Amino acid sequence: MGLAPDAPQFAGDHVKILLTGAGGQLGLELSRLLPQRDHEVIPLARTDLDITDSRAVEQTVEQHSPDLVINAAAFTGVDAAETEVEAAYAANAVGPRNLAVACERADCELLQVGTNYVFDGKLGRPYEPFDPPNPLGVYGRTKLAGDEYVMRLCHRWYVVRTAGVYGEGGNIVRTMLRLGRERGEIRVKDDEFVSPTWARDLAEGIAQIVEAREYGLYHLTNSGSCSWYEFTLEIMRLSGTEVRMTPVSTAEFPLPAPRPANGVLSSLGSPQLRHWREALAEYLDHEGVSVPHG
Ligand SMILES: NC(=O)c1ccc[n+]([C@@H]2O[C@H](COP(=O)([O-])OP(=O)(O)OC[C@H]3O[C@@H](n4cnc5c(N)ncnc54)[C@H](OP(=O)(O)O)[C@@H]3O)[C@@H](O)[C@H]2O)c1
Repeated sequence: MGLAPDAPQFAGDHVKILLTGAGGQLGLELSRLLPQRDHEVIPLARTDLDITDSRAVEQTVEQHSPDLVINAAAFTGVDAAETEVEAAYAANAVGPRNLAVACERADCELLQVGTNYVFDGKLGRPYEPFDPPNPLGVYGRTKLAGDEYVMRLCHRWYVVRTAGVYGEGGNIVRTMLRLGRERGEIRVKDDEFVSPTWARDLAEGIAQIVEAREYGLYHLTNSGSCSWYEFTLEIMRLSGTEVRMTPVSTAEFPLPAPRPANGVLSSLGSPQLRHWREALAEYLDHEGVSVPHG
């Protein structure tokens, strides 16, 4: 792939990467993957760098002088954001702004991770990168503000939007398995669609994007799509969990934050990741909770 015209040369293919939010689902996968691909990674968890602190951000970027900053930090509590608006705005909008300003000053690249929740979900097809956003809730609004700060305040940016991420720690897959085992019966929404994405595959796609050095806006998820109900059925099938499942509508299952009914992102112009079913099967295998199927 070609190099953007104003891109400075890195030494060989080795990139010095400062990673924020290194303790999160995606951050953990990137911390593991990028050194395996021969990049130098400085992983910073929230306790190492709070991205809402503009001085700390500036000093850290100056001190390490990276080629690239990857921001995997965010306030990801979609429902909590509805009431904790200031905290969500600080982490999701002010944080990326601080990083964009610091990267511009230090002449380095910035990769910001975004969300499908910037869309209202009313479109009858998967969302392409330049479809107009119209977030329904505080989380989506603050994340959109973060994307826009990055796109406007620095020159060499990547914004990579993703969706339905599961990885290490508390995640949707583990929650469904726990609820299934505890209750023997669960109700799951069947009118909200997404492409569930394993954080490990997302990290792989992000590595491909930064190695190609093609700046711009990307949509990156595992391929295929399903409702949360279908996703949960597959989790239970692959894990051999006996559970009675009832499909319910969003109206029957109200949550504090509205979500897009169609949360499916088109991979137009982005690296293609494998199908979500294949990724889920490997994840469950990796977690030691899958049963062999004939
Ligand atoms: N999870 C999803 O389904 C999903 C879907 C679409 C897009 N995304 C996006 O994907 C990216 C990665 O998400 P994820 O699933 O890996 O989220 P995650 O597991 O919640 O990780 C986010 C990390 O950011 C840290 N963080 C929060 N505020 C911070 C701050 N002010 N300074 C520094 N670190 C801070 C968190 O630390 P604490 O735990 O200490 O708060 C946490 O370690 C985010 O940009 C998110 O918006 C996620």
